[in-house]
Amino acid sequence: MCGIVGYLGTHQAAPLLLEGLGRLEHRGYDSAGVAVLGPSGIRVAKRAGRVRDLREALPKRFAGKVGIGHTRWATHGPANDVNAHPHSDSKELVAVVHNGIIDNAAALRDDLTEAGVDLVSDTDTEVLAHLVALSEADTLEGKVAEALGRIHGTYGVAVVHVDFPDRIVVARNGSPLIIGVGDKEMHIASDLAALVRYTTTVAHLADGEMATVTPTGFTTYRLDASGLAATNRRAKTVDVDPAAYDPGEHESFMHKEILEQPASAGRVLRGRLNGRFATGHLGGLNMDARELRAIRRVKILGCGSAYYVGEMGATLIEELARIPADAEAASEFRYRNPIIEPDTLYVAVSQSGETIDTLLAVQEVRRKGGYVIGLVNVVGSAIAREADGGIYLHAGPEVAVASTKALTNMFLGFAMLALQLGRVRDLSIADGRRLIAGLESLPGKIEEVLATEERLVAVAERLAAAESLFFVGRVRGFPVAREGAQKFKEISYRHAEAYQTSELKHGPLALISPDVPTIAIVPLDELVERNVAALHEIAARGGPLVVVTHEEVDLQGLEAERIVVPRAERELDPILLTIPLQLLAYHAAKQLGHDIDKPRNLAKSVTVE
Ligand code: F6R
Repeated sequence: MCGIVGYLGTHQAAPLLLEGLGRLEHRGYDSAGVAVLGPSGIRVAKRAGRVRDLREALPKRFAGKVGIGHTRWATHGPANDVNAHPHSDSKELVAVVHNGIIDNAAALRDDLTEAGVDLVSDTDTEVLAHLVALSEADTLEGKVAEALGRIHGTYGVAVVHVDFPDRIVVARNGSPLIIGVGDKEMHIASDLAALVRYTTTVAHLADGEMATVTPTGFTTYRLDASGLAATNRRAKTVDVDPAAYDPGEHESFMHKEILEQPASAGRVLRGRLNGRFATGHLGGLNMDARELRAIRRVKILGCGSAYYVGEMGATLIEELARIPADAEAASEFRYRNPIIEPDTLYVAVSQSGETIDTLLAVQEVRRKGGYVIGLVNVVGSAIAREADGGIYLHAGPEVAVASTKALTNMFLGFAMLALQLGRVRDLSIADGRRLIAGLESLPGKIEEVLATEERLVAVAERLAAAESLFFVGRVRGFPVAREGAQKFKEISYRHAEAYQTSELKHGPLALISPDVPTIAIVPLDELVERNVAALHEIAARGGPLVVVTHEEVDLQGLEAERIVVPRAERELDPILLTIPLQLLAYHAAKQLGHDIDKPRNLAKSVTVE
């Protein structure tokens, strides 16, 4: 969602800010703006639309070596030029960019209006600009602290002020804020993607922390009732390859990330499989064998694709460890006053580690005394920090909105967790070895699926012509169908609905027609015959069929497009069945001419409820 950038140094700020905003585009936004502090005070330029629209609209003279920028995802008020950030006070002393939501904005707007302030936008952020400008504190740090003390809500915020031209003051509460140390210059961003081109020496602010950034360094403080206490945070060099933020020769990040899966799957497994005891070796869980044995239930929480892979994970845990497990949308969990049980292991799954619904669910569980582990890709993210333990996914930066390689590594994380839970219970050493061999073979088998891409292009192009599609599967195959439908709808904008194959005859069969294709997940498992029989019912009603299946499956003369994937151990089949669905979605969206990495209305990390 919204993105923040900032710059202080020896170069003109505006081009660098625009470049940084361009690198945040994948997060989703509907307007963009920059403010620079120059010889004639603060200058602001902002526009609804893309960063390129802002670049074109930027005045010729826009000088200043200190500046902030923002991509906005509309929450309070529509996407227009006025509501775009940065926001200023009436005298243009201050400019503010803000990610997050100010919950008491309406009350503060009333107070400000009563005090004679003229509010020009519909946003919550504008109140912050006025509060900073009205503060009588002597320092910019004091003014920002006083203003933040009056607001309730979440924020990542960056503030410039004409009376303090050598600095940007930043603060964080629930929305990421990173300071990058460059060569005689400093960078600020809400996402590493915006600054890795310039530096990988960074400091991540913690919630409740504030910092003063000048062209030569930064100082951090904790914001508390008694004032500002130094926290002495230092920058560290992070191990991230700037090339991961570059699509290279690929047409899109999504395509690049799909093809990276054999390598990224190998990374999540590395060092985490113990051949001697035929088990998983997940030190980050912070639980010993006795504690793992004491678990009576597993509850998995995630949103969107992370929720669907959580369903795959729940099946793995039930099958391998025989512990009751289920997945629930984190966005719903908190609102039903969930019963938190002491012997339940809660698992939060999130690529970004910043999804607010998942983060709030984690906080709810911990507040009630539950134990939560995170399956998270972004190191040091909010969920990773909040959880009691976890498994980092090591997928590398995922830039495309549609999650692919992170999702695959989530599945592998669940498989290792299920193996470890199973091996402290009744899973035999032979089964443990069988699964380890299966896991180790997966990167190569993913490679085999990817090698069939050319054939999938033609199938995808036919599917792209349909307005409406079904994705169906059973048991292990049903979350695969849900994830397949999710990927298809989010980038092709076609109506794609997932159903249990067994449920078709209880209603949706009425929709089957030659215009409505069905993509069916039919692994070689104990349900194969029933699955094939259900597909014949679809065929009998003229419904076109694409069947994602194994070589050995006999489709009994069914007229269908057949997509064959290699077999893994049966528990691991779901991930190999998922990969062709990523490619089908990708090529259908490409055929339709969509902006694949930036699907309409969607954001990479959903940081507002
Ligand atoms: C789908 C997709 C979303 C995310 C969801 C959770 O391709 O990317 O459905 O899976 O928004 O995001 P994270 O995993 O960052 O919590």
